This record gives sequence, C-alpha cells and structure tokens, in this order.
Amino acid sequence: MKKLSHKLATLATFAAASIPVVQVHAEISPQRMADAIFAVIESDRAVYTKKVVNRLQNEEEVITADEHWQDEQALPLPAQMLRMGAEGVAEKDLGVTYALMSTWPINKQNEAVTEVEKKGMDFIMANPSKRFYSEETLGGQKYFTAVYQDIAVSEACVTCHNDHQDSPKDDFKLGDVMGGVVLRIKLD
Ligand code: HEC
Repeated sequence: MKKLSHKLATLATFAAASIPVVQVHAEISPQRMADAIFAVIESDRAVYTKKVVNRLQNEEEVITADEHWQDEQALPLPAQMLRMGAEGVAEKDLGVTYALMSTWPINKQNEAVTEVEKKGMDFIMANPSKRFYSEETLGGQKYFTAVYQDIAVSEACVTCHNDHQDSPKDDFKLGDVMGGVVLRIKLD
C-alpha cells in the first residue's frame, strides 16, 4: 500500500513536471471574428437558396417557398431562415447579433435604422467588393459593427424579389448586391 502511494506520488510529480503549461497569447480581433461568422451565414444562406429553394421550387417545381410556410406547407423563405437562425444565436446571449437589410426592402422593417447601418449600407452599395467596419454605442453598450453585401447568388433570389408585389425594385439581376447583412459584436 505504502509502495503504491509512493508510486502514485512519483507519477504525479513526473506528470506535473512533464506537462507543459500552455499559454494562449493569440487573440482574435472583432473583425476576424465577424468575418468568420459571416462566412458561415453566407455559405449556409447560399446552400439553402440554391440546393433547397431554387432546386425544389424553380427547377423541380415540387414545392414553393412562402412567407406563410407553416399554413401553406411550404418552404420558409431564405430571409426567414436567416432570421430564425439569428434569433437562436441572440437567445444564447454570446454578444453576437445579425440581421438582413436592404435599400429596397420587401419588408419595411428590414430598412437601415442606426447611423452606422445607413452608412454601412451606402458604403457596400458604392463599393461592392469592400466590407464596411465601424463601432457604435447603442443603449450605453459599445459594439463592433460590420456590414457585408448580400448577393443574388441564385435565380430564385432575383425572380422572387422582382415578382413580389411589395418589392420597390423589379430589375434585380444574378450577381447584384440586393442588400446587406449587419453583424454586431459586443465590445467590453
Ligand atoms: C421565394 C421568395 C424569395 C426568395 C427565393 C428570396 N427572397 Fe429575399 N425576401 C423575400 C421576402 C418576402 C422578404 C421579406 C421577408 C421578411 O422580412 O420576413 C425577403 C427579404 C430579403 C432581404 C431583406 C430586405 C427585404 O427585402 O425585406 C434581402 C436583402 C433579400 N431578401 C435578399 C435575397 C437574396 C440575396 C436571395 C437569394 C439568396 C433571396 N432574397 C431569396 C422573398 C424572397
């Protein structure tokens, strides 16, 4: 017994001495974090629109995407998928929020509201290959705010918006910047 506890003590000393203390010095900037989160949002949004909505609605014509998807036994709109995901993230209270916006919104609630959102939307429209980064204080809380282009990656984006009765614009083309994704990260 004595021998065993001695052995264990020796092992413990050996283990403590041989495990290096790992110190993580690297920090991720809010901009890198925002870019990475946006890459996931953008990719999921394109996959859903191309492989689900465009394939089943526009090509195979087996089901439509509809705002009232629950009542109509339809697919949720890509914008609704994004919003449902954003609500799930907001509930986790990680200090990350995001939303879809546009200068020509079908839903008026998707218009830019804050000064930074307005500046960001103007910037990404005028500079389609650049991203917009800023900081803002809302309700006493400081945020890193990024605005990214939301692009018409599929024919379904274009036809649905151009044909929609509430759309203020009816000449969207494939590849156009149709709006923007505003992503906020809470700063300490
Ligand atoms: C089947 C119809 C449909 C398809 C497909 C569709 N949208 Fe939309 N989109 C809508 C509707 C309706 C809204 C408003 C929904 C809401 O806010 O609840 C919307 C919202 C948006 C908004 C926010 C501003 C606004 O118009 O209210 C943007 C930006 C947008 N869509 C871009 C796109 C892009 C880009 C694609 C393709 C990746 C796409 N949409 C695919 C119907 C569609």
